[in-house]
Amino acid sequence: MRPDEILPAPPAHAAQVSRELAARVADAIGQAGGWIGFDRYMDMALYEPRLGYYAAGSRKFGADGDFVTAPELSPLFGQCLAAQCAHWFDSAPASIVEFGAGSGEMAAQLLESLETLGAAPQRYEIVELSAELRGRQRELLARRVPALLGRVSWLDALPLRIEGVVLANEVLDAMPVRLFRFSEDRVFERGVARAPGGGFAFADRPGDDAFAARVRQAVSEAWGAAGAPAGDYVSEIGEQAEGWVATVAARLARGAMLLLDYGFPRAEYYHPDRSGGTLQCHYRHRVHGDPFLWPGLQDVTAHVDFTAVSRAALGAGLAPLGYNSQARFLLDCGLLDRLGALPRDDAREWARQARAAQMLLSEAEMGELFKAIAFGRDVPDDAPGFATRDRRAVLQ
Ligand SMILES: C[S@@+](CC[C@H](N)C(=O)[O-])C[C@H]1O[C@@H](n2cnc3c(N)ncnc32)[C@H](O)[C@@H]1O
Repeated sequence: MRPDEILPAPPAHAAQVSRELAARVADAIGQAGGWIGFDRYMDMALYEPRLGYYAAGSRKFGADGDFVTAPELSPLFGQCLAAQCAHWFDSAPASIVEFGAGSGEMAAQLLESLETLGAAPQRYEIVELSAELRGRQRELLARRVPALLGRVSWLDALPLRIEGVVLANEVLDAMPVRLFRFSEDRVFERGVARAPGGGFAFADRPGDDAFAARVRQAVSEAWGAAGAPAGDYVSEIGEQAEGWVATVAARLARGAMLLLDYGFPRAEYYHPDRSGGTLQCHYRHRVHGDPFLWPGLQDVTAHVDFTAVSRAALGAGLAPLGYNSQARFLLDCGLLDRLGALPRDDAREWARQARAAQMLLSEAEMGELFKAIAFGRDVPDDAPGFATRDRRAVLQ
């Protein structure tokens, strides 16, 4: 069955927004001679002003949206990150730059918790591409941390120089990726063309030399001497995420960068068995694989290649501070003690938090697929979140 036959249809006004966006994508394809790279399509689907998924007004995060992120699940997540940030504030300026702050929930949790710890940052800067989300973030923070609102500001562009702590939760997975198909030792770039019956379809064309070389390099590290698996192999290259990490890392003059997201080290990312890649679409809590369904109304994501992320950060001169599963990171930041300390007078609320903790930690949920990775400049390599175990060696 096709996804559109089983997923709930969008309301009429949303369908209209999607049609407008589809018309723009069709124009872009026409202007480019009939084909655009998937990264261009993904960029438009997510960020086209007024129409893209993150640029338009639909509700994305939380129970009535399309997916739930860790801070939306429980304040315990933000409390754990706050403990980690407070530690870094001992050796770096007490300032946070958060990228892609979503609903603003993580910022609210961090500011609340840091204030409780007596470590409220002097500045909390948010870099958010979506004007609509900025508005929501401001509203939430005005309600939750009114006394600290004066310290929060929204930046239009990447700061040139950063001192303090950089945070990004589930931001790298939202950056456009290029797709490839490896077939009989040839590299094709998988892009987007107009489909004969309307809508869009994947269309492959031979990758240019630079792209083919990048793909070969990435997969050969995972495939080793065994060479290419039999049949077609389709996956992604997260060039924009790598470029973003390199740029932010270069601008981090002093402090730490903590990124949380779902993904793997390269050997797992391009494992011969993962021959369909990691591209996923989220629509009303259903996951499916058709990025052309209702453009602009669904999230489109790809997992993160943490080896590439690590090389980009180290290449920009940062030192590694840790890499581990989200579960281990949160446990090391004291998640269970924090859960244990929650008031139990409201049994229902306590049970909700216990269930959320289980989702954050369970290997079957977010505990193992999601990772935490940290880098720093001029800060000690003693992050509490990586105190008991650290898998950074697998990223080499
Ligand atoms: C999946 S949401 C995560 C939201 C939030 N961090 C959370 O955990 O709930 C991805 C977010 O990343 C933002 N984003 C993507 N690329 C970005 C970039 N280059 N700079 C800043 N934000 C970006 C999107 O606008 C969106 O708000």
